[in-house]
Amino acid sequence: MSHTDYASFYRRSIDDRDGFWAEQARLIDWQRPFDRVCNYDNPPFARWFEGGLTNLCHNAVDRHLATRADQNALIYVSTETGTERAYTYRELHTEVQRMAAILRALGVQKGDRVLIYMPMIPEAAFAMLACVRIGAIHSVVFGGFASHSLATRIDDAAPKVIVSADAGMRAGKVVPYKHLLDEAIRLSRHQPQRVLMVNRGLAPLDPVAERDVDYATLREAHLQAQVPCEWVDSTHPSYILYTSGTTGKPKGVQRDTGGYAVALAASMRYIYMAQPGETYFSTSDIGWVVGHSYIIYGPLINGMATIMYEGTPIRPDAGIWWRLVQDYRVTVMFTAPTAARVLKKQDPAYLTKYDLSSLRALFLAGEPLDEPTATWMAQAIGKPVIDNYWQTETGWPILAVCNGVEPAPTKFGSPGKAVYGYDVRLIDENTGEKITEPNRKGVIAVQGPLPPGCLQTVWGDDERYVKTYWSSIPGRQMYSTFDWGVRDADGYYYILGRTDDVINVAGHRLGTREIEESISSHPAVAEVAVVGVADALKGQVAVAFAVLKDPARAATEADALKLEGEIMKVVDEQLGAVARPARVRFVSLLPKTRSGKLLRRAIQAVCEGRDPGDLTTLDDPSALQQIRDLVQPPSA
Ligand code: PRX
Repeated sequence: MSHTDYASFYRRSIDDRDGFWAEQARLIDWQRPFDRVCNYDNPPFARWFEGGLTNLCHNAVDRHLATRADQNALIYVSTETGTERAYTYRELHTEVQRMAAILRALGVQKGDRVLIYMPMIPEAAFAMLACVRIGAIHSVVFGGFASHSLATRIDDAAPKVIVSADAGMRAGKVVPYKHLLDEAIRLSRHQPQRVLMVNRGLAPLDPVAERDVDYATLREAHLQAQVPCEWVDSTHPSYILYTSGTTGKPKGVQRDTGGYAVALAASMRYIYMAQPGETYFSTSDIGWVVGHSYIIYGPLINGMATIMYEGTPIRPDAGIWWRLVQDYRVTVMFTAPTAARVLKKQDPAYLTKYDLSSLRALFLAGEPLDEPTATWMAQAIGKPVIDNYWQTETGWPILAVCNGVEPAPTKFGSPGKAVYGYDVRLIDENTGEKITEPNRKGVIAVQGPLPPGCLQTVWGDDERYVKTYWSSIPGRQMYSTFDWGVRDADGYYYILGRTDDVINVAGHRLGTREIEESISSHPAVAEVAVVGVADALKGQVAVAFAVLKDPARAATEADALKLEGEIMKVVDEQLGAVARPARVRFVSLLPKTRSGKLLRRAIQAVCEGRDPGDLTTLDDPSALQQIRDLVQPPSA
């Protein structure tokens, strides 16, 4: 493929969309060629590579066997259990077939859903790949979520089988999963037929008769399994991944097969500059979109070894990730700005203790990358630190510097320019007009069709897909990212935060509505508002302001602290510790407009010591004053 300058590469991706993507489609294997590159007859629904038959597992595993059978595919490192083990492509192929045979034996067929609630262990990767191998649709739920979050997802995805494990581990502590899973199934209307349990020997399993089956036993029974890939249409769903939005009910982002494989293959080249045969290290978790795209599918489709890491960046010490870079000759690394901020607090000597000569660049995404952290990180490792911006919905970057097309400077604070395939627009939120002049704030939007790899729809709810994503820009059918941004004269974008009630805690995307609903379930709580407040380490933290049914419950400071702890426990148990607010404060009323709309933005501004702006609609100013008194004590 001949490379040109980025401007013409980008223009072609928009002006000659079909020609451009037909060329990219050659990066993967097709069992039968597609009839149409992009069917956009029914906007905003885009059907990529329609009529083509392919398989995600074939492209990630089988097709490399001819040339890379003995090369590492999956490198598993757990600093929690002290395990380090590499699987070659041949071994991965074998394990995936065993898992596929087990799923088949448990009744899983093409189109059935399989929910995966697992820690970062190789079996989780086997399960994902086994699902797409047989045309089943996986839905991985982050292991940090608890029973209520899990139950919502079980009911929505209606999985025939759930694959799980006894426990995860974090910072040396066992995090048992099984009781949360049992409780989630108890809370769900939908009941899975089978639960396949991987026993790590960390926590009790308490098997449920007739329902729970043991992975190790079944694996023994399927050691010789040969399960061919099921060829599916390019538009066949490969997975559902739930993500938070404005309502309390998470949305199931539904991804296709062929479009996703092509988009990832292309991104490995043009954005991440990653070559087959090299090692890729993304520190994310398989429960998040970065884990799907850049721990599992992207690197494997690209014929690389991928590191799957269970542990924190600073255990046993802050040198651990860099030791892995050295030992496995990592060329491309991907993490979140929070991890960089965590490392920044450690002795920088750890970052130079190991040989990092193999490393080409460190990519960061998921939350705003502040300039001091970016500069510190780049200096500490002596490598380019490159930001990129995207969402669970898109599956791969919307804004980036495409160094693989044409090397270009990065600008600190900016994730870069519009990525090929995305017709990115900056929109005036009131008029829906396209903003053409530089440095004016607007909503970041994309003119349809979205490029391959992006969500096809919201699982089981086409209407919600159209309503949520394509109807918020006045007078236009355009995809909204729900992020504010500005663009400079060179076409570089800067992200200025969400337009909705989504918050970002340590790179984890959370909906304030979900947290509010959970807190409201505590019997003492009458009403609550949750906002995201700027935090030096985590980017943002959730802070809750609750009105109590009986204010006497928080009469003294000790009472208030006790109740705060109780409420946090409720959130822990229902949603998981990731969603736990940093503080729960008690007030006698919440700031609302006269029509009863909660003024979350004003609360947030006060918490961050900013001017809350226009308060003419505020019903009772004392509500905001109470919050001000709580968060900015007069002595401070
Ligand atoms: O607000 C943006 C922020 O994270 C949101 C998407 O989060 P999630 O669905 O978890 O996907 C993460 C995929 C990397 C976005 O709407 N966000 C993501 N990347 C950046 C970012 N904010 C600023 N800079 C980024 N590079």
